[in-house]
Amino acid sequence: MSRNMISYCWTGTRPRLIIQDPEMTEEVLANKQGHFQKPPLNPQILILSRGISTLEGEQWSKRRKMINPAFHLEKLKGMVPIFSVSCGQMIEQWKERASLQSSCEIDVWPELQKLTADAISRTAFGSSYEEGKKIFQLQKELISLTLEAMQSIYIPGFRFIPTKKNQRRKKLNKEITSMLRNVIQRKEHAMKTGQARANDLLGMLLQHNNQFAVLENTNGAEGKMTIEDVIEECKQFYLAGQETAASLLTWTIIVLALHPEWQEKAREEVLQVCGKELEFEAINHLKIVTMILYEVLRLYPPVIAIYQHTNKEAQIKEISVPAGVDLTLPILLVNHDPGLWGEDAEEFKPERFSQGVSKASKDQLAFFAFSWGPRTCIGKNFAMIEAKVALAMILQHFSFKLSPSYSHAPYTVMTLQPQHGAQIILHQI
Ligand code: HEM
Repeated sequence: MSRNMISYCWTGTRPRLIIQDPEMTEEVLANKQGHFQKPPLNPQILILSRGISTLEGEQWSKRRKMINPAFHLEKLKGMVPIFSVSCGQMIEQWKERASLQSSCEIDVWPELQKLTADAISRTAFGSSYEEGKKIFQLQKELISLTLEAMQSIYIPGFRFIPTKKNQRRKKLNKEITSMLRNVIQRKEHAMKTGQARANDLLGMLLQHNNQFAVLENTNGAEGKMTIEDVIEECKQFYLAGQETAASLLTWTIIVLALHPEWQEKAREEVLQVCGKELEFEAINHLKIVTMILYEVLRLYPPVIAIYQHTNKEAQIKEISVPAGVDLTLPILLVNHDPGLWGEDAEEFKPERFSQGVSKASKDQLAFFAFSWGPRTCIGKNFAMIEAKVALAMILQHFSFKLSPSYSHAPYTVMTLQPQHGAQIILHQI
């Protein structure tokens, strides 16, 4: 291990280790002894969701088993037509705007955020997706108010003082929770009476919840998720899956606008492999598009770091780390490390992924944009399929270049975003 692969700093009185070494990263993420956990959460953030990503130990492992089947590839295949509907609507609107002069300027960052919100609402709630979209709009406001609160100095108990913003946060949370409760209860009833099938994420969650209780032989109640748990998981779908996916798509459009030769290669592949109606089999055969998406995830990872914490003294390779130490696994830094990716690490070269992820870098563990190990992103296949459908459809209908008004300023507010938007000039083809 070279010396610069690990460093440390202090956050107030708390020590923090920053680990860039892939093998050490693997040991932390594999968490075989259970010595690593998420750092203690700022209580303010729990208002957003107390879903799976906030759980630990036995509680987490039960919840993960329950949710996993909803994200199996077989289930996701059925979501391709749903992603196509969401994307088709966006494309029709873009066409209208472009039709006047055959080209137009669009800031694709808010557009792609709307797209991924629509897609997650349709895939999560099926026929109740309009209601889902309203819920997500409220969630968006709550997220932004919560982030604002978290940027100021944390004073324990301050969130209970009835300031205008605290009251708004409380009201939003109440409204979101009650709307979700309604959707869930209606779905449960419709499934019991045979009026609805379990073909959306919520339906699958409810179905596995019932099956899980039977398998665990818990006579229902104690092994099952309560309705409150299901509410928190619905919030989590949006929180974890909307902006991350929009970030990936937005950086992909920006990078392809900067590299017209790769845009053309990707378009040729899409036109060759996919028909007008996108199907899973075709999507699965998009090799160049996949290489491009991985290279974008490397250069502009939506989640720039993973944070962990030692709850007991832990051994990470030859280093002994006491309990109570924070750990940062800096995805962004690792992804730009010339020691791992070569002297051209800063360049956009999708060909480095031509033999798959494990052969793209000098260390096969260097790429972990979706994390790794037991807590790897549950929605990674969902996100990749969604991104492939959206990119394929955009390439089928438009060519695009950067607008002169675009200024390159990646910055992070939860995810990696273009600070001043992503202004693109679209030409209809
Ligand atoms: C390009 C898109 C995405 C990226 C880059 C991404 C990345 C990640 C990463 C790095 C983690 C680990 C975070 C940590 O341990 O601190 C994670 C966890 C998670 N992701 Fe994603 N994600 C994406 C899309 C999605 C989607 C679409 C969904 C769901 C619809 C989703 C659901 C989750 C959930 C539930 C977890 C927590 C898993 C657990 O704690 O067991 N993600 N994601």
